Amino acid sequence: MITLWIDDKQYEAAEGRTILQVALDNGIQIPHLCYHENLSSFGGCRLCQVEVTRDNKTVLTTSCTYPAMDGIIVRTDTPKVKKARRFVMELLLSLAPDAPKIQDLAQEMGIVATRFTPAGDNCIRCGLCVRACDELVGAHAITFAHRGAQRMVEPPFAEEAENCIGCGTCVQICPTGFISMEEQGMERKIGKWKRTLKMKACAKCGRPFISFAEIAFIMDKVKNPPPADWFDYCSDCR
Ligand code: SF4
Ligand code: FES
Repeated sequence: MITLWIDDKQYEAAEGRTILQVALDNGIQIPHLCYHENLSSFGGCRLCQVEVTRDNKTVLTTSCTYPAMDGIIVRTDTPKVKKARRFVMELLLSLAPDAPKIQDLAQEMGIVATRFTPAGDNCIRCGLCVRACDELVGAHAITFAHRGAQRMVEPPFAEEAENCIGCGTCVQICPTGFISMEEQGMERKIGKWKRTLKMKACAKCGRPFISFAEIAFIMDKVKNPPPADWFDYCSDCR
């Protein structure tokens, strides 16, 4: 265990935790968008910035990537922190001005407008979709492409995401609604990944509930695959 200070209070934490995790574990709210407890840290949105003093040096840093260390002093609410977060939030708002989650977070921080020209496509480049697809699903269907202002999430070579199994994890985890999934008859379409998947219907209620690609993926990946008829019924009818 290590001991650190956050906003003048002492906390104990297990080694290996980040400042953001220790803060959240102890009910200290630090705004964050690209952090997810089940995914690796990315440090992409820069909303979770705090000031950290270590060996008499103070730096402004992202709390989701900075390890909680013995003796460090963390401040979550200094004028410098507030200014940095405000700048970031306005930038995010310009990238995804219509996303309710971004609007709500901005409002919580007292921001109602952005000084930047709205120029976004509604994707804030948080990388949650890419990491979820890599680390939770293991499908590796999408990736970041290009650099700087051109950086975006895409299927490899901007062609159909052939590894996409249509599980919808990216759709669920995306905080802006950039990715959407449409059910059309016996097909599921994820337009952003140029992917159309054939769906299997539940033998009882007839609802298309899982793609054949996802069934094949599960049967191939899991150590003890379920019996083949497991996928005959949807979770409601099983
Ligand atoms: S598509 Fe959504 S989850 Fe993926 S990087 Fe953009 S905002 Fe984040
Ligand atoms: S949550 Fe830390 S940089 Fe996004």
